[in-house]
Amino acid sequence: MTHRILQLSDAVRFPDDFLGNVVCADALDAITQVADESVGTVITDPPYGLNKKGIKNDADLSVFYSILPELHRVMKKDSWFISFFSTKHMPKIFVNNPFEYFWQMVLYSPEAFVMSPIGITKFMSVFVFKKGNPKLNKRTCDIIKDTPGRQVEPDEGFINHPTPKPKRFVMHLLEAFSSQNDVVFDPFVGSGSSLLAAKLLNRQFFGFEIESKFCKLACSRLNNFPLTQNSNQVVSMVSR
Ligand SMILES: C[S@@+](CC[C@H](N)C(=O)[O-])C[C@H]1O[C@@H](n2cnc3c(N)ncnc32)[C@H](O)[C@@H]1O
Repeated sequence: MTHRILQLSDAVRFPDDFLGNVVCADALDAITQVADESVGTVITDPPYGLNKKGIKNDADLSVFYSILPELHRVMKKDSWFISFFSTKHMPKIFVNNPFEYFWQMVLYSPEAFVMSPIGITKFMSVFVFKKGNPKLNKRTCDIIKDTPGRQVEPDEGFINHPTPKPKRFVMHLLEAFSSQNDVVFDPFVGSGSSLLAAKLLNRQFFGFEIESKFCKLACSRLNNFPLTQNSNQVVSMVSR
C-alpha cells in the first residue's frame, strides 16, 4: 500500500480515504470528519506548552484541552488513550480530562542529557487513560530502556523533526494497548513514529499533522521503511 498525504479540501471521506494516510490539517478541524466510536486506540504526543522551537501551538495547552472531548467522541466504547506529556506540566493532564487514568509508562534513556529544574532528566512520561473497560492485549512492563541518539533512529538515521519519539518504544506501547487490525489514531503525527509503529504491528492507522514539511516526512517514513540501501551502515554509525 502506498501511503498518502491528504488535504481536507480534497473532499476526503472517513474512514476509506483516511486509513493508512496522513491528513495535513489542523487536528481540531480534521477530527470533525471522524465518525463517533470508530477508533480503537489513540496514541499521541501533543504540543505540551513548553514553547519548544519548531513545534506549532506549543505556547500553552489549549490545543490539547480542545481536542480531548473530540477524542472521547471518536473512540470506541472500550478503548485506550495514550499520551506523552511533559513532566513539568504533569498535573495539568488531569484537568478537564474526560478519560479515566489507568497507568504511567516511562521511557528511560540512560544516555539522555536533558537539562531540567532538577539538574538532568533521563526519562519521559507517557500516561495511559481509558474509556470504558478496554482489555490489555499483552501484559507488559512499565519502564522501557531505549537510547536512540538525539533525533536519530538506529535503522533510519537522522529524523528531521524537533521531538521524534523512538518507534520501538511506541511499538511496545501499541503491543500492550491495541490488537491486530485495530484502528490506531494520532492527531499530532510529527515525524510519524506512531503511525510507522502501528504499520509495523499490522494495525490500521491514520493521523493528522498541521505542518506540511512534517506530513511529507511522516509519509516518506511510512513508504520507505525498511530502508533498502545502507541500513546496516546507519546502524553501525549510530551505535559507535
Ligand atoms: C510533539 S510533536 C509530535 C512528535 C511525534 N510524536 C514524533 O514522533 O515525531 C507535536 C506535533 O503536533 C503538530 N501540531 C501542532 N498543532 C497541531 C494542530 N492543531 N493540528 C495538527 N498538528 C499539530 C506539530 O507540528 C508537531 O509536529
